[in-house]
Amino acid sequence: MKARLDAIIRPEQAEYLERLLPANTGLLEEMEAYAAEHRVPVADREVARFLEITARAVGARRVLEIGMAIGYSVIHLARALPEDGLIVTIEPDDSMIERSEDFLRRAGLRERVRIERGAALDVLPRLTETFDLVFLDALKEEYSEYLELSLPLLRTGGVVVADNLLWGGQVAGEIRAPEQTASTQALREFNQRFIHHPQLLAEVLPVGDGLGYAVKTA
Ligand SMILES: C[S@@+](CC[C@H](N)C(=O)[O-])C[C@H]1O[C@@H](n2cnc3c(N)ncnc32)[C@H](O)[C@@H]1O
Repeated sequence: MKARLDAIIRPEQAEYLERLLPANTGLLEEMEAYAAEHRVPVADREVARFLEITARAVGARRVLEIGMAIGYSVIHLARALPEDGLIVTIEPDDSMIERSEDFLRRAGLRERVRIERGAALDVLPRLTETFDLVFLDALKEEYSEYLELSLPLLRTGGVVVADNLLWGGQVAGEIRAPEQTASTQALREFNQRFIHHPQLLAEVLPVGDGLGYAVKTA
């Protein structure tokens, strides 16, 4: 059982929910194994599925992701889009980009993904598209800035999803990993900003490691 889910809900519920969700096969299973072996922090299975459901539910055509890693969440998002849909994803790490390109090609989804190589705070001000969905999943210390820079690019009625808002239980409780003090403090501030943001109707869901979910209302 994942320790993170266990930190949010009772162990037997967490085990049940994990059993309930069908295991992935094929390429996604291979990506999960690669991520586990190489300690790449990809989205939890239920978070990736949630993203795909949301993208389909809002009829997303343009998606912005901040933090791609090997493209695990991108594959879920990309397959929810129509043929002419586009995901713009930001990632500074060359080795991650190289791995993701192989996975995306093999998934037959490379054409729907534009990879912006670089740090999000440098890339975001250059983007000109309007997006239907924004997924925040890079540096926790920068989430508030990602939100402010990406909101002008999100259409009214568009959705913001932000991962790891409970940070393994540390945001609501005590900080167990001293090296995560700054990121935990930043997430505490982000959560306040997110929930009370004048342009958003927002919620933090007990999904995965705590998933922020908001609609842009103004
Ligand atoms: C949690 S992982 C992303 C996982 C991915 N969204 C998934 O679920 O498959 C975070 C990624 O953000 C990238 N990253 C680190 N600093 C960044 C920055 N300044 N801007 C954008 N991405 C960054 C890391 O290299 C890493 O690949």
